[in-house]
Amino acid sequence: KKPVHIVWDADAAEKGGYEHFMLKEMYEQPKAIADTFSPRIKDGQIVIEELGMNDEEIRAVSKIVIVACGSAYHAGMTGKYVLEGMARIPVEVDLASEFRYRDPILAEGTLVIVVSQSGETADSLAALREAKKKGCKVLGIVNVVGSSIAREADKVMYTWAGPEISVATTKAYSAQLAAFYLLALRFAEAKKSISAEEYQELTDSLLKLPQQIEEILKDRGCIQRFANRYLAAEHIFFIGRGIDYAISLEGSLKLKEISYIHSEAYAAGELKHGTISLIEDGTLVVALATQEQLYPKMVSNIAEVKTRGAFVMALTNENNKDMEQTADYVIKVPKTNRFFANSLAIIPLQLFAYYVSLGR
Ligand code: F6R
Repeated sequence: KKPVHIVWDADAAEKGGYEHFMLKEMYEQPKAIADTFSPRIKDGQIVIEELGMNDEEIRAVSKIVIVACGSAYHAGMTGKYVLEGMARIPVEVDLASEFRYRDPILAEGTLVIVVSQSGETADSLAALREAKKKGCKVLGIVNVVGSSIAREADKVMYTWAGPEISVATTKAYSAQLAAFYLLALRFAEAKKSISAEEYQELTDSLLKLPQQIEEILKDRGCIQRFANRYLAAEHIFFIGRGIDYAISLEGSLKLKEISYIHSEAYAAGELKHGTISLIEDGTLVVALATQEQLYPKMVSNIAEVKTRGAFVMALTNENNKDMEQTADYVIKVPKTNRFFANSLAIIPLQLFAYYVSLGR
């Protein structure tokens, strides 16, 4: 056997004064993202050597299929919006447990991306094998170095989040988002689907994310106070549109996973097709509204749930000054490029899930 040196240090697996690993790992998110970016952003250029693809090979990719489970699947959903939006390439996202059993049609030119923190999730590994059997090239976005998915994928792009001890993922999820942003920018550059100015602006926005997350984490007191009002809640809904829908799914999963409160996430435009009848007097609805072009639509969705008596906590960016007139409680995150809004919006949602659970 050839010895391999793993760079994780033992301190990373200690609580280091935090009450729980989950809290510690939430606080490690700025570093996890910065570490995922830093080896791949050189002098303002995105360089993903491990992808092993030149511009021509990237242009030959006709479709991307992202396969994963749980939160990694939610990161893949954000990946879809970002890759399609920036690189104009069609992207499908599939749950690994579905993909592996449905004899998927994978045409030539399809790149399959398997996303996994542990690199050991059985369904994701089986999906990887299925894709390889069908002749596709597989890229793994993996956190654990040398794990099964990392070893079996054709190429692996590591998320440098360090060991994640908490079962509820936070920093590995954030690092997965970071990996998708890098990929989307690299594909967009090769396909010339964005201008040089946009590329520059997007790369600058990426580099600001760790600092912006730090700022949100500093303000955790207001989220804790708000969470304490909802310890007895029985149902909590999350709504959002576009990329905000992907983050609604992750916010809802985080909450139900650790607090055991029933929660659902809905694409805001889909609410009226049945689900709205579940919203009663005082039901908490968390409304995500970070996307400028969808903002008026979200305002009307908030009005809809309020007519049914919902208490609405809106999460938006600091530019939207008028949200206070629509929602009952407003949490603001700094402004970033619309494609990267999920990285900031998820922080208050993780804190909310954590403090509700702690209180209960
Ligand atoms: C939720 C969570 C799970 C994992 C899922 C996939 O907080 O941690 O939903 O995201 O089990 O695990 P990995 O990424 O290890 O394949």
